[in-house]
Amino acid sequence: MSSNNKPVAIVTGASSGIGRATAIALKGAGYRVYGTSRRQIPASPDGITMLACDVADNASVDTLVAHVLAEAGRIDVLVNNAGLGMTAGAEEVSVERAKTLFEVNVFGVLRMTNAVLPTMRRQKSGRIINISSVLGFIPAPHMAHYAATKHALEGYSESLDHEIRTFGVRVSLIEPAYTRTSFDANAIQPDRLIAAYEPGRASADAVMQTAMTTGDAPEVVAGAVLEAVGAKHPKLRYAAGKLARQISFLRRFVPATAFDKSLRKQNGLPA
Ligand SMILES: NC(=O)c1ccc[n+]([C@@H]2O[C@H](COP(=O)([O-])OP(=O)(O)OC[C@H]3O[C@@H](n4cnc5c(N)ncnc54)[C@H](OP(=O)(O)O)[C@@H]3O)[C@@H](O)[C@H]2O)c1
Repeated sequence: MSSNNKPVAIVTGASSGIGRATAIALKGAGYRVYGTSRRQIPASPDGITMLACDVADNASVDTLVAHVLAEAGRIDVLVNNAGLGMTAGAEEVSVERAKTLFEVNVFGVLRMTNAVLPTMRRQKSGRIINISSVLGFIPAPHMAHYAATKHALEGYSESLDHEIRTFGVRVSLIEPAYTRTSFDANAIQPDRLIAAYEPGRASADAVMQTAMTTGDAPEVVAGAVLEAVGAKHPKLRYAAGKLARQISFLRRFVPATAFDKSLRKQNGLPA
């Protein structure tokens, strides 16, 4: 198939980790793939076209989407993957610092989605895949702001899916657990450190560092994206990987008090 006839996918944050694995998987599945990074990345032999885009910037998002449309003429899949983490006591984060996280994890998704929707509505088809997290439906002590961004993404995505289904466009959430990427190394830092939170923050940091070496491969998440994109009747939520499926099951079926107790234990918090 010539590249002109292939379905077109955009993957934000495709320079590393889950985004990179997803871009490669979509390419392998026959898509013409545009990946993004905030940096200008030279063309690579894997056939993925990398374009510069900061999802926290309106003009940058508009330029990206205009470029893809001018070149490829359509957009079939948008994977909103770009995201940042932050490990901190909630009180250790100023509103300004929290906004930095929301600008990428939430408003970045809104910007990208608003930019592609006119095209998808016109086409009467399209898939929007939002990379959420198990922290989109369970609490995360010492990652409260990150969990808040992913909870926001879940509410937005489920609501949006109802609206745009009418136009032939569907939204799915991918919910990974720990995944081996540069997520921890790229995390932003709290800006108001408070000694009282040091033990909790240090313990959450240690859990995250270990998870970055023992978690699922990013290809597991990419596989869930392919499943969502390829489904004739896509589900709203795809838990990615065994641990994510277990957590999703427990969240739905374990009584709230038992879940609360277990979560504190898992996070090394006193009963
Ligand atoms: N790793 C995990 O355990 C895990 C678990 C659940 C969910 N997730 C989610 O998975 C997604 C991908 O994370 P990852 O684990 O693959 O981490 P990663 O390796 O750090 O990748 C993050 C990507 O986001 C991009 N990015 C960051 N800020 C951006 C911005 N303002 N504009 C555009 N791109 C930006 C980065 O690109 P540049 O730096 O090149 O711009 C990079 O490609 C995130 O949404 C994350 O919340 C991760």
